[in-house]
Amino acid sequence: MLTKDSKSEISADQPVIEIRDLHKSYGDLEVLKGVSMTAPRGHVTSLIGSSGSGKSTLLRCANLLEDSQRGEILFNGEPILWKGDGPHRRPADRKQVTRIRTNLSMVFQQFNLWAHMTILENVMEAPVTVLGRDRKEVEEKARIYLDKVGIGDKCDVYPAQMSGGQQQRAAIARALCMEPQALLFDEPTSALDPELEQEVIKVIKALAEEGRTMIIVTHDMRMASDISDHVVFLHKGLIEEEGHPSELFGKPKSERLKQFLSATVPA
Ligand SMILES: Nc1ncnc2c1ncn2[C@@H]1O[C@H](COP(=O)(O)OP(=O)(O)O)[C@@H](O)[C@H]1O
Ligand SMILES: [Mg+2]
Repeated sequence: MLTKDSKSEISADQPVIEIRDLHKSYGDLEVLKGVSMTAPRGHVTSLIGSSGSGKSTLLRCANLLEDSQRGEILFNGEPILWKGDGPHRRPADRKQVTRIRTNLSMVFQQFNLWAHMTILENVMEAPVTVLGRDRKEVEEKARIYLDKVGIGDKCDVYPAQMSGGQQQRAAIARALCMEPQALLFDEPTSALDPELEQEVIKVIKALAEEGRTMIIVTHDMRMASDISDHVVFLHKGLIEEEGHPSELFGKPKSERLKQFLSATVPA
């Protein structure tokens, strides 16, 4: 049985996120021109494409950080309610948006940690202030998640005292501490030096192996190929090609994808 508010009653084959024919413009600039994609439960979906193709916009729309003008977004089968049309379309129910957004956690390229808070405080912040969870219980969980990403010894350190790779792992622990139904990553390794990139990729791989639902925007074709169940190639606001990584990377069909891969995949 499917109900709106109960996680336990949602069936395993119900996608966490489903986007249907989404259109999004910034003023006159049409960025998404009718995109449909799903984040199936327990699966990793990667989004690839050139800079400016609309990947971040799509992820931000999925997370309800951006409005869109046409198309549907469903969370566990529950459609987002809209009021108004086209450029005037807005979510009709703020409570619905908040409830859904707290079930999705985003990890950004630039970590976005609070500089004035220790790592432990950073990880505890949203569960305590946004979800109203008990401080002590959250602290226990925060320490577990920091251990999990390999920086359990950094609880009392400030972000500026850590490497980029450690900061990004703290940001992942922070996302996990919300215990979301899906994790959304926007180029999580792009700001990192190659050797620090690997420590973050290792954490993301481990999360994939645990069967977490994830959408990952990445320029790292090796990671996308290794961990994805499904890869979507976005080109100028439309899905040009999508499929299993072995097909998409092994036997790309479209000329644009072939070109993109030859420019991005190291020989
Ligand atoms: N807030 C914004 N206002 C206006 N244009 C934007 C905004 N965000 C993104 N864009 C434009 O939308 C297009 C897609 O951007 P984006 O989704 O960031 O692409 P990607 O993540 O694939 O590089 C680009 O042309 C970009 O300049
Ligand atoms: Mg982007």
